[in-house]
Amino acid sequence: MKSKLLASVYSPDDFKKKGQQIIIELADHLKNTTTGENAKTINWNEPENELDFWRNFLKKGNEKDLFSETLKRSIHVHHPKYIGHQIAATAPITVLTSLISAMFNNGMAVYEMGMSSTAMERIVTDHLCQKIGWDSNARGLLTSGGTLANLTALLAARKAKVSHDVWNEGNIKPLGIMVSEEAHYCVDRAAKIMGLGEKGIIKIPANDGYALDTSQLETSYREAKAKGIEVFAIVGSAPSTATGIYDDLKAIGNFVKQHDLWFHVDGAHGGAAIYSRKYKHLLNGMEEADSVVIDGHKMMLMPALTTALLFKNGMDSHATFSQKADYLLNDTDHEDWYNGGKRTFECTKTMMSLHWYALLKCYGEALFDEFVTRQYDLARELAQLLLNDANFEIAITPQSNILCFRYVDSSLVNDELNSLNAQIRAQLLADGEFYLVQTKLRGNHYLRTSLMNPFTTTDQFKKLLVKIKKTAHSVLLKKN
Ligand SMILES: Cc1ncc(COP(=O)(O)O)c(C=O)c1O
Repeated sequence: MKSKLLASVYSPDDFKKKGQQIIIELADHLKNTTTGENAKTINWNEPENELDFWRNFLKKGNEKDLFSETLKRSIHVHHPKYIGHQIAATAPITVLTSLISAMFNNGMAVYEMGMSSTAMERIVTDHLCQKIGWDSNARGLLTSGGTLANLTALLAARKAKVSHDVWNEGNIKPLGIMVSEEAHYCVDRAAKIMGLGEKGIIKIPANDGYALDTSQLETSYREAKAKGIEVFAIVGSAPSTATGIYDDLKAIGNFVKQHDLWFHVDGAHGGAAIYSRKYKHLLNGMEEADSVVIDGHKMMLMPALTTALLFKNGMDSHATFSQKADYLLNDTDHEDWYNGGKRTFECTKTMMSLHWYALLKCYGEALFDEFVTRQYDLARELAQLLLNDANFEIAITPQSNILCFRYVDSSLVNDELNSLNAQIRAQLLADGEFYLVQTKLRGNHYLRTSLMNPFTTTDQFKKLLVKIKKTAHSVLLKKN
């Protein structure tokens, strides 16, 4: 190679040296975080300061410090006190499969650009379809995230159910989908991208327990029809994001059958409960769905992004995109499941099936049973601790590993409680020992936890509650 620069970029020796060092540092990080030896889950820094740091680093920083600085300035999802957003504490084997994917860089759009990973994708999605209880007509695909998967499912729904060909002719009449007001915002976004507009998103109120109120389905459907809207799909959440409560999929399935709608289940977070012998009943009725989404990077221990989109009738997934790109897509007289780009939104995607396949191969599905069950049990333990303490109240008894709670004080009115809980959360973030998030539910400000980490224990919750009480007292003291 003539270019010295390119030769150094591709130097196998340099790669080996740097790679070995990084693996050693990652293993140390894993040890220090999972044992809680790193005092903090996050070293909070204001965005402008962080921007300044990295601008300076590009000019003057030492290349050798790149890893350590990134580590110091990133949230540590493997830390047991990380109980915030829904993202997995990655199983280390999937860190290695990410490395392999990055090196091989097979683009996956057509079979020859990812032979092994395409076959693995078929195997893991077939396996997921079987777990749902579907027959051999079912097919799945892997795609880049729950948001994109939900959009892809709704595009398939429109193709299958709407009376005219919107893909080729455009929207010629008002279309709509039905979804709980508690569903993840990406469903709204998908509907807007599809041109359904505000009136095409028929919001079904949630019941007292934060699940879609199935008693409202018939009325809402009739009202939409009376307005001339052709409703083609309904989305069930399994569970919804803010509260972690599962919709009644059986009841939704029954409604769908009466009106010949497409039934989509957004199981991005809790679809993985199909593996839990103890909690899979929460998904009863999902087998009636036409499509299901399950994120690998949430409850299945994989790195972002990888999502399974599964179809009860595999042909529906082949019909979603009828775009012509002849250099990629040859017409065939049999099902070419192996040319992934025909069925995914992406043209190029990572070799994400490696993560799923490696976990199944190395640990088996028992891993997912154990993990999901443990985390869902843990939320119930935390709920019990909170219920036993007069200073706390929970929003709703948890069904999954998501739990919303707040600090309460009988001398304060609701606005004061809201402001107090918002300040508690801000101080916890600045402190950095624990990481949890917040949400507003029916006018109340809650602290919100997603128990994503297999190292989190009840003892840590006890410490958290002590810390929250101390924080609340100091906020109230300053106020008075
Ligand atoms: C229920 C639900 N659906 C969809 C999404 C979006 O998934 P992703 O972040 O993989 O795009 C989320 C994310 O939290 C979710 O909780």
